Amino acid sequence: MTILTDVRLGVNIDHVATIRNARGSMYPDPVEAAVLAQNEGADGITAHLREDRRHIRDEDIDGLIAALKIPLNFEMAATDEMQKIALKHKPHAVCLVPEKREERTTEGGLDVLKEETKLEAFIKPLNNAGCRVSLFIAAVPAQVQAAKRVGAAVVELHTGAYCDYFYETKHSKCEAEFEKLKKMCGYAHSLGLEVHAGHGLTFETVGPIAAFPELKELNIGHFLISDAVFNGLGTSIKKMKKLIEEARTR
Ligand code: PXP
Repeated sequence: MTILTDVRLGVNIDHVATIRNARGSMYPDPVEAAVLAQNEGADGITAHLREDRRHIRDEDIDGLIAALKIPLNFEMAATDEMQKIALKHKPHAVCLVPEKREERTTEGGLDVLKEETKLEAFIKPLNNAGCRVSLFIAAVPAQVQAAKRVGAAVVELHTGAYCDYFYETKHSKCEAEFEKLKKMCGYAHSLGLEVHAGHGLTFETVGPIAAFPELKELNIGHFLISDAVFNGLGTSIKKMKKLIEEARTR
């Protein structure tokens, strides 16, 4: 039996900052959480600097750049302000996401088709700076094709609907969403794109997604930080990595 441990786990530490900001305190520190995650087996750290700075703040990004030895995946909206920050820091990876002020979390994928010209120009300087650009998209062929055309190296497939349907016990919708994700993972890979996935993943939902043969990275935040409240971040990360590894072995 071959053990394929080739799927990286990116730990999103945004919600450590959410807790800090709820009280306007100095703790818990998302940079400390990121270093702990690094020491406990995370393959990368993801942080989303939102326009409204509701969780991660500019100084957190400074701290992450200074402290991390593993890759930082800098999640951001495609705005001039964020591009300037990314070009200043030149993180390992930039993940472009749609952003709406009123949403609780990143609700849908980026409409790459609609913003093709803008995104192509936006991505070029990031590619030139050596950042691996990823686009967070729904599992739709036209979006995958557009991502390839605009010069992204990676697509991250939005697993939010699959997870929502799973917990709402809408089995047929969950299955349909899963099949779309599986198909698009293979399709994006066939176009030469690296494929990542994330949003809403938990111990219960991660396995089937982690088993996609072409998948290279999973980005998981809210559930890991929530589970860490009870079990500690190290235990939560190790369990998630074990589940990913088991899914690759099957
Ligand atoms: N990937 C992307 C692009 C995201 O926007 C998010 C949410 O910040 C995640 C992964 C992680 O989602 P969750 O926090 O639900 O695990």
